[in-house]
Amino acid sequence: MHKIGFVGCGNMGRAMLSGVLSAGLCESGDIIVSARTQKTLDAVHEEFGVNVASNNGDAAKAEMVILAVKPQMYESVIAEVAPSLSSEAIVVSIAPGKTLSWLAEKTGAKKIVRLMPNTPAAIGCGMTSVAYGDGLDEADKARVMAFVQSFGEGEVLSEHLFDAATAVAGCSPAYVYMFIEAMADAGVAEGLPRASAYRMAAAAVAGSARMVLETGQHPAALKDAVCSPAGTTIEGLRVLEEKGMRSAVIESLLATIEKAKRL
Ligand SMILES: NC(=O)c1ccc[n+]([C@@H]2O[C@H](COP(=O)([O-])OP(=O)(O)OC[C@H]3O[C@@H](n4cnc5c(N)ncnc54)[C@H](OP(=O)(O)O)[C@@H]3O)[C@@H](O)[C@H]2O)c1
Repeated sequence: MHKIGFVGCGNMGRAMLSGVLSAGLCESGDIIVSARTQKTLDAVHEEFGVNVASNNGDAAKAEMVILAVKPQMYESVIAEVAPSLSSEAIVVSIAPGKTLSWLAEKTGAKKIVRLMPNTPAAIGCGMTSVAYGDGLDEADKARVMAFVQSFGEGEVLSEHLFDAATAVAGCSPAYVYMFIEAMADAGVAEGLPRASAYRMAAAAVAGSARMVLETGQHPAALKDAVCSPAGTTIEGLRVLEEKGMRSAVIESLLATIEKAKRL
């Protein structure tokens, strides 16, 4: 029996798969992947050397089954895979909006977990929220956490916080990339070469994030430390406040949460 089966392997499936293999959690031969198109199966096999199957039922026979399709596909894909799930299989959902109780009803599985990962998992820097269903024992939970930690950090949350976690960690990389791109555009407008601008903006974001994580200081205190009196940074901050950056970010995440609730 394969250790992990990915049903669907697009952006998020590949990110997790890449993290799992890089961390050495399992061998490529322990993993089986199914997808909609042969093109994806060929590409995944060539890149990762894992087993592939055009039939979702084959991937669903694994010990841990990751449902890595879009939320809109969940119902039909679950109907296809449910008959193949073993009674001890751990079924992992990574979709927003699909609750543990809905998943239990549709899959008929005893052991269900919700994860909300993000794409930095591809380089072992993922941030994944975890909500365990009632059917998992401590050994199952340890297996799930080992899986999650093979591609980054894991945070166990009560399920009612999952929509918030989806916005703050699952979707936010897209917003951060947009911020990096915008900062780089400003640099390019003033003459920085494009490649240098991306590298500098991205490194500044990565370094700032590590400062928050590693110093434990409040983000506002770290911000204040960059703003010299009558300096350049405070001028930029004044414009960000005037343009409503804080509110734009909060409202955008709240819109994400609303959408997750409707899925
Ligand atoms: N992208 C993110 O940053 C992110 C973050 C957190 C959670 N998620 C969640 O992760 C899940 C997947 O998202 P994604 O961004 O990876 O989507 P994606 O890039 O569109 O990938 C979807 C995958 O599902 C496969 N698929 C579609 N219909 C299928 C079917 N009937 N049977 C088997 N496989 C099928 C596709 O196969 P083909 O390639 O052959 O079309 C593709 O490999 C979603 O529920 C999403 O909400 C995504």
